[in-house]
Amino acid sequence: MKDATPQTVRSDPVRLAQYEAPNWLVEDVHLTFRLHPTATRVTSRIRFRPNPDSADRGFRLDGEDLKLLSASIDGRAVEPRIDAEGLSVDAPNDAFIWECEVEIDPKANTRLEGLYMSKGMYCTQCEAEGFRRITFYPDRPDVMAPFTVRIESDQPVMLSNGNPTASGDGWAEWHDPWPKPAYLFALVAGELRATSTTHRTSEGRDATLNVWVRPGDEDRTGYALDALKRSMEWDERVYGRAYDLEVFNLVAVDDFNMGAMENKGLNIFNSKYVLASPETATDRDYELIEGIVAHEYFHNWTGNRITCRDWFQLCLKEGLTVFRDKQFSGDVRGHAVKRIDDVLMLRARQFREDAGPLAHPVRPEEYVEINNFYTATVYEKGAEVIGMLRTLAGPEAYDRALTLYFDRHDGDAATIEDFFACFQEVTGNALTGFERWWSQAGTPRVTAVTHWSGDVLTLTLRQSTPATPGQPQKGPVWIPLATGVLSPDGKEVAPTQVLTLKTSEATFRLEGGIWRPSDGPAADPLPASVEPAPILSLNRGFSAPVILDRKVTDAERLILLAHDTDPFNRWEAGRQVAKEQLLRALDGGALDPAWFDALGRLVSDDSLEPAFRALALGLPSEDDIAQSLHDAGRTPDPARIHAIREDVLQGLAEAQAPLFRALVDALVTHGPYSPDAEAAGRRALRLRALDMLSRLDGGDAAAEVFATADNMTESLSALAILIRRGTGEAESGTFFTRWYDDPNTLDKWFSTVIGNAAPDEAVAVARRLTALPEFDPKTPNRFRSAVGALSANTAAFHHASGEGYRFLADWLIVLDPINPQTAARMTTAFETWRRYDGDRQGMMTDQLRRILATGPSRDVTEIATRLLGD
Ligand code: ARG
Ligand code: ZN
Repeated sequence: MKDATPQTVRSDPVRLAQYEAPNWLVEDVHLTFRLHPTATRVTSRIRFRPNPDSADRGFRLDGEDLKLLSASIDGRAVEPRIDAEGLSVDAPNDAFIWECEVEIDPKANTRLEGLYMSKGMYCTQCEAEGFRRITFYPDRPDVMAPFTVRIESDQPVMLSNGNPTASGDGWAEWHDPWPKPAYLFALVAGELRATSTTHRTSEGRDATLNVWVRPGDEDRTGYALDALKRSMEWDERVYGRAYDLEVFNLVAVDDFNMGAMENKGLNIFNSKYVLASPETATDRDYELIEGIVAHEYFHNWTGNRITCRDWFQLCLKEGLTVFRDKQFSGDVRGHAVKRIDDVLMLRARQFREDAGPLAHPVRPEEYVEINNFYTATVYEKGAEVIGMLRTLAGPEAYDRALTLYFDRHDGDAATIEDFFACFQEVTGNALTGFERWWSQAGTPRVTAVTHWSGDVLTLTLRQSTPATPGQPQKGPVWIPLATGVLSPDGKEVAPTQVLTLKTSEATFRLEGGIWRPSDGPAADPLPASVEPAPILSLNRGFSAPVILDRKVTDAERLILLAHDTDPFNRWEAGRQVAKEQLLRALDGGALDPAWFDALGRLVSDDSLEPAFRALALGLPSEDDIAQSLHDAGRTPDPARIHAIREDVLQGLAEAQAPLFRALVDALVTHGPYSPDAEAAGRRALRLRALDMLSRLDGGDAAAEVFATADNMTESLSALAILIRRGTGEAESGTFFTRWYDDPNTLDKWFSTVIGNAAPDEAVAVARRLTALPEFDPKTPNRFRSAVGALSANTAAFHHASGEGYRFLADWLIVLDPINPQTAARMTTAFETWRRYDGDRQGMMTDQLRRILATGPSRDVTEIATRLLGD
């Protein structure tokens, strides 16, 4: 069956420097699918024409796991040479028509790339290189063509990209007039139900919007549909971009490797990011659904109308689209809280990635398996880079640059250089030097030293970026630091001004409330203050994704925590105090009682949004503390970090008991559940307080919340709290029984029970749960919920016995032959191994070598090899 066997596939890297234009371009594509679970027939008719930009007329098509039944060129049968990655055949010198028929087996496709089946329904995932598993094709993003698709099957609903053109009993035809690369192709067929509405675009066209789900799920589609409509309106209003087809289809599937996919006119989503009802979805789920629906929709312009020339340019569509979805979510939910959430995520995932063996530039220069580069760096740091461009160019120039980009490159497969050139043009080349952000890996460190003479404040900034794999030498990047100044009693004396550090070192001087570059001597590291110096609020709003290193006293931080006009830095000040207190406690030092008091004042301050207060109450995670210790040249002990952090939380609970009790009572939400940001913020603060209270009452209040909650946010948090207290046995059983039949909700049970189990017990719990018949490694959501929850339970994963590492490796070895993409992604849990002591390092690298010894997929081989760094 397999003419193209995956065993001998490429293992050398693909390099950006070796990009070559395609030899042949595609005029148009006609596809016919005769769907069958194990023997689907795909016929293709593709018109090729020579690419004037290429002299080579060699003809090669990508193909993988395809059984070729027949092939012809201009109607004459041909016998192509088939290898593991595709075929080649002698082609005419001029335009010609390629036709072929292949057979594929969607049911056997557990990789979930190409055409596969999920619960009896046919669906596709083609990004990045899945189309070659459907038929032979030049499967690269710089080959764009309009597609016409005919589907024949007994499924009641048959969808593809573009507009429906005709249908009848057992067949349907679709035409997508917009030239697109094959990675945006999609097909869905199944028993599906739509929830629909219409949207009249700002350009006066009507589009039907459909959210398709399996029968029984129709009552959970409303939020996604509403989010889609709001996203469309937002993109029209803010970016002037309207939708361009008669119909927009969005389909939910249960088996999906990633979050969602922006296929032209036919977005396919992991059902986890579509289906929502108050009983089954948490506030966080609602927020993610809104953000991901927007993200995929926004790709219609940033990704689809303008796509990427090659996969090295992935951040061109992903970084930009993430930036756009964050702008949208900030507009909807409030920018301050959204920014704090985003930075928490950036530090937890991207800074961690950038500090380890998988560090790579926002635009990587080589890859073995492109699916391994859908990373926090490409997405999140990629979005930060766009944010800095906006800060540096200013919002108006940003808008002009984007308009120019849309106008000039509509229909193109573009590069970062094309995008950046638009900024250069509108700013008169003012940004030359910024480009290094795309090519240099690693998180820059900025040290800041101030000098206060009694009337002049001087600030010296220095930057350096640590070496990363393959990049031993680093140069300076542009670092825009939004900076404000407070008087010692907390009044703002200089408003926010962006100071941009472009070289390895620069000094700025504050005169008359304005910062100016100074060519005088650098600031003295020992401030000779004649009176209390003004207080600096640096990197407001986290204007640059860097690590700041600056000597700041606790007293100064407490003033920023109480008075900074920038909400991000207010939170950040609290965060830094908390981090220092935790590090002090780890060294056996006593906590500063002023900290609990300051935290108590902030958390009880009714003039602040509850969501902000909830965030202020969150302590740095165990993983974050471990990274900080490592950065300070020390070796983290995960068990001790867990124990001390718990002690500190206990101390805080005791010190502020009345406050937490009051919050739990005062923040009860009345009336029907609403997922809006305000209501969600109240629940978030209440649930944090409930967690604190559970450290005093043994979980009684949490048990009460669990028993009476009418929404998943509260039931799930209460369950997590009870499990952390070691008392949630009964509630866990209740939850399981209640949600047994609901895959997305049962996933929450797996992740909550494993993710909150005590460090000494979690691996045993995880082994027990993964032995249940409900655990199926073929479904990525279930696998991530169970196995991923153990690797996210820091103290359990890093248990001194090494059982956490073994558990993960055992399951990765099972998963890899089924689904290499998800296996590779989850292997990255080992990326922090160099932080730890020799025993743990040995145990982690042993597991990585054990995985490599099984002869794993290209995906896992690449990750494991890079992790080991040898
Ligand atoms: N482009 C999708 C997004 O919106 C992600 C798809 C990634 N899929 C993959 N197999 N790598 O971010
Ligand atoms: Zn995306």
